Amino acid sequence: VNFTVSSSGGTATSPYQYGIMFEDINHSGDGGVYAELVQNRAFQGNSIFPSNLSSWYPIGGTELSLYNSSNPLSSALPASMLVTVANDSSGEVGFWNEGYWGFPIVESWNYNGSFYVNGNFNGNLTVSLQSNTTGKTYATAAVAVDSTASAWKQFSYQFNPTSDAPDSNNTLRFTMDASDVQEPLNFNLLSLFPPTYNNRPNGLRVDLMEAMAQLKPSFFRMPGGNNIEGDAPPYWYNWTNTIGPLVDRPGYPGAWTYENTDGLGLIEYMLWAQDLNMEPVLAVWSGHYLDSVSLPEDQLAPYVQAAVDQLEFLMGDTSTQWGAERAKLGYPEPFEINFVEVGNEDSLGDGMESYAAYRFAAFYHAIHDAYPNINIMASYYDVGPVHPPFPHTSGDFHEYGVPLDFSSQFNYFDNYTAAHPLLLGEYAVIQYDAPGVDGPNYSPGAPRAMFPFWYGTVSEAVYLLGAEVNSAKIIGAAYAPSFMNLNNWQWIPDMIAFDANPANLLLSTSFRMIELLSGTRITENLPTSGNASNPVYWVAGRNDITGSHILKAVVYNSTADVPFSVTFEGIGAGAAANLTYLTAPMNSSNTLGNEVVQTSVSTVTAGSSGAFSFTLPPYSIAVMEIGAG
Ligand code: AHR
Repeated sequence: VNFTVSSSGGTATSPYQYGIMFEDINHSGDGGVYAELVQNRAFQGNSIFPSNLSSWYPIGGTELSLYNSSNPLSSALPASMLVTVANDSSGEVGFWNEGYWGFPIVESWNYNGSFYVNGNFNGNLTVSLQSNTTGKTYATAAVAVDSTASAWKQFSYQFNPTSDAPDSNNTLRFTMDASDVQEPLNFNLLSLFPPTYNNRPNGLRVDLMEAMAQLKPSFFRMPGGNNIEGDAPPYWYNWTNTIGPLVDRPGYPGAWTYENTDGLGLIEYMLWAQDLNMEPVLAVWSGHYLDSVSLPEDQLAPYVQAAVDQLEFLMGDTSTQWGAERAKLGYPEPFEINFVEVGNEDSLGDGMESYAAYRFAAFYHAIHDAYPNINIMASYYDVGPVHPPFPHTSGDFHEYGVPLDFSSQFNYFDNYTAAHPLLLGEYAVIQYDAPGVDGPNYSPGAPRAMFPFWYGTVSEAVYLLGAEVNSAKIIGAAYAPSFMNLNNWQWIPDMIAFDANPANLLLSTSFRMIELLSGTRITENLPTSGNASNPVYWVAGRNDITGSHILKAVVYNSTADVPFSVTFEGIGAGAAANLTYLTAPMNSSNTLGNEVVQTSVSTVTAGSSGAFSFTLPPYSIAVMEIGAG
């Protein structure tokens, strides 16, 4: 392959390019990024997922029952756990929690916990972390409790373990001496947090945030995905339930088979975006339930207003009604929102007539009138002819497929219009190529890959380089879903897998690919001679901030190594470039403790003709950078 990169004729690229898509799926929020360690901490529930005592177990002569008290902790948290100790009990009584499939016990961590109790009790309550594997207690706090029947009272505790536990097969125990317990006691909102990213209270898991930071993401699409839609009336993603003190958050029946605590709420999402320096792409509920019910036009107005209020809550100054509410919660400085997506996988072109007929327009007009600078995004429309019929709008295109789909889509965006830029808000290869599943769409019946696999990852890179070539019209791209908890998931494959043990972090092959492509950004695409086509694809340009020149290249299904000879106009003989490329066995996946992706780093010096000569193997992804810094 032999081509020249021009020094002129450049096109500015999108400042976003690579980002994160997040929704609570696969316990990626509760039991995942949201660092709370206690599962079912507040017995939240509704008609879809009724309140229950799952994850809680009695100790000694104790009986646990779900209790709907006439004096609840709050109207948002009406259910609690009534703890009754049999009269003839002696010794240790109480209850334990199983956590989100265990608890991490790390010696260097300081843990912060709290709980509410209602009932007459005067004595010590011991909170401890105990191993099922060794039987050993690793951390203990004795809490002096003086509670009464007349009111709920909150107690806090701290501990740090005496050593690391061998694994996460640990429980959190709350125990009392039976002789101190004279009457049933009512408990609620029992919480335990490990250290969080940037030490934020009610914050996020450090290891998962650090993994995301490694990707240098520039945008953050949240909170769905299907999860924003709500399964069925009356459950829609009502943002007002996700703000303020935890006692005021009732929870939400998520779309992915489990109750969401909403501890990870709107403000937490904004702080997450700030902490990783990402541009929020905020999805608002669009009047459509996942079970295919869309609100009729004459019932939409309150939900359109809810979206406008949501933006006032985030962006309004303290003289506005909702801006003042935000300030009361401790955030006087407004957040900045430049992209709002209306719904998830609605469609302007086909299927959901109500979106094209009135729902998108209703949200567009109300949001645009109040916030004319916001780019309003239609959810799920293709690169075809149907665009939002309004200015300053964009679209969100999702694709799940097989490697053949992605590897054949390098030119997919070439004829797309820059008038309505496109976010590739979700993409992933989810199945292997196979008879019957090749083609423009994956086959719902065929088995899924458990983890991203290498040639699927390389095909995604072909697609992403095509997006980079067209970067003036492609806002950016995000793999989806981002996370899976290895103990409870609904969707595979995923970019990052984890469990309760921070040592068990699985960064997939696609993670490695994104890390490489996102880590070196082209800010101005430059024309190249020669056409990229199977099996070799590339994009070239400059980074106007670092002053470097960049080539990104992918070799797909070649049977032999591919020699490159690349000349950059204006860069002469003797110039040095850093070449990094990734390879792995074609069908292999990264699994826990086994990284299959090999990274090759070398220096390439331009020869007497000025050309950089190097060779890339089949199924490789490369970035070459000249003159960085
Ligand atoms: O990423 C998983 C799901 O795929 C998302 O929730 C939805 O938007 C898409 O169909």
